[in-house]
Amino acid sequence: MSEELRWVDVVDVSEVWEGDLLDFEVDGEEVMIAHLDGGDLKAYQGICPHQEIALADGKWDADTSVLLCNGHNWEFDLQTGQGLNPSGCRLFEYPVRVTGEKIQVGVPQDGKRHYNRFPG
Ligand code: FES
Repeated sequence: MSEELRWVDVVDVSEVWEGDLLDFEVDGEEVMIAHLDGGDLKAYQGICPHQEIALADGKWDADTSVLLCNGHNWEFDLQTGQGLNPSGCRLFEYPVRVTGEKIQVGVPQDGKRHYNRFPG
């Protein structure tokens, strides 16, 4: 897949601590960044696949990586973006990298909204 990405500076890496879950607007899209236990950074769609609720407002257990949505308690594994309950959904995952002091998110330039809704 040779999809064109636009890499966007989102936040200083020093501002996102291990165990943090934060949301940002990136290139007009709602994106949440999770700093996983162990150090990995993940970027996913910021809005729940169920309804228009910000996922970063949910309860996240950084030890298990399970996020519980504030809306109706759907569960997601933030290691993978996989829906755990219900299991048929998956969060859209953006590429993420650190360049210098900045966390950057890669936004596909395909003209789509990067938001997986469930049921589709
Ligand atoms: S809005 Fe997230 S579970 Fe309903």
